[in-house]
Amino acid sequence: MSSNNNKTSSPEPFLMNSGNGTYSYSRNSRFQREALVIIKMMIDEAIAEKLDIQSLSSISKSLRIADLGCSVGPNTFLAMQTLIEAIENKYEAECLKHGYRLPEFQVFFNDHAANDFNTLFSSLPPGKSYFVAGVPGSFHGRLFPESFLHIVYSSFALQWLSQVPEKVLDKDSPAWNKGRIFYTSASDEVANAYAAQFAEDMDNFLKFRAVEMASGGMIFLMVPGVADDCHPSQSGGGWLYDALGSSLMDLANKGLISEAQVDSFNLPVYFASLKEIISSVERNGCFSIVRAKLTDAILGNYDDPVNIQAYALHIRAVVEGSIVKHFGSEIIDDLFDRFFQKLTQVANLDPLSYKGGQIFVALKRK
Ligand SMILES: C[S@@+](CC[C@H](N)C(=O)[O-])C[C@H]1O[C@@H](n2cnc3c(N)ncnc32)[C@H](O)[C@@H]1O
Repeated sequence: MSSNNNKTSSPEPFLMNSGNGTYSYSRNSRFQREALVIIKMMIDEAIAEKLDIQSLSSISKSLRIADLGCSVGPNTFLAMQTLIEAIENKYEAECLKHGYRLPEFQVFFNDHAANDFNTLFSSLPPGKSYFVAGVPGSFHGRLFPESFLHIVYSSFALQWLSQVPEKVLDKDSPAWNKGRIFYTSASDEVANAYAAQFAEDMDNFLKFRAVEMASGGMIFLMVPGVADDCHPSQSGGGWLYDALGSSLMDLANKGLISEAQVDSFNLPVYFASLKEIISSVERNGCFSIVRAKLTDAILGNYDDPVNIQAYALHIRAVVEGSIVKHFGSEIIDDLFDRFFQKLTQVANLDPLSYKGGQIFVALKRK
């Protein structure tokens, strides 16, 4: 058997900006970091209540943790420290009763092969209490041997689809997404094509993790999401990508890029609801749900102009590489200037009309 079941024709991945310069992901990912602080208590509780250290201790002296879609840091280091401290607390609380020894920890940092692993590995925290390894490849395929992992963590990564849904690029399809790069202000056909791709990807993610995880192991997922049954146009975060699409169309109207280039560029990102994620867990059947919650929006104070600058920089850190590949580098500064101006206008809208936030899900392998 091949050790990796990734699709052979996987499209080129969208990569976060590398390094640690002005537009890098490492310097423009504070929303994700703030979100981790919000969910920390839920991680602590889930581990304290549901991690079965008796059965894990009987199968292994070390605990293997994977961060799927870790990017370049530093958020992943904070996340790994949070998990390890919660597990150590659990061991310390129980070792008096049962005589367990603290396990050694090994962290597997996973992302696409072209992710900037150099920045990641050269900025590992000096006092870290775990061994490290890098695992390149898509989490939509197999990454680890059978029953190998004890803890899987993934934050702000599962909203990235394995591909742009084919129909939205097909001129002959009712789901053709002409003049837009995202689904949140598009037709229902476009939104449905994105939803179907997410369901397929989420099913694959759980299918492969079910094979790779030891019984009793736990998964912690955090994704930007939406309230159940809310219309895509109300997605928190959708307004950012809609504003980016509209900025690209402005450049097309000025003749700086072609409209056909915009039509053939769509972002493979989907903001799911808790209902959609739970449906996938139920279809899979290998995990029990420990905790599932949509928490408050992470985008903070919509009236704060400093934050608008931060959103613009964050989106630039996330999509710049893919935009340069598709449209060329000449338009980048003009595009993001226009994008910033649009965000300033959109931010004056009522933030309560957006029904987004972050979804936290804790699962346990049966
Ligand atoms: C927004 S960043 C989040 C990084 C980090 N987890 C955090 O919370 O700051 C999303 C990361 O997921 C990675 N990613 C997206 N799809 C992936 C896939 N199929 N396999 C592995 N990594 C993926 C991207 O390359 C990117 O580094």
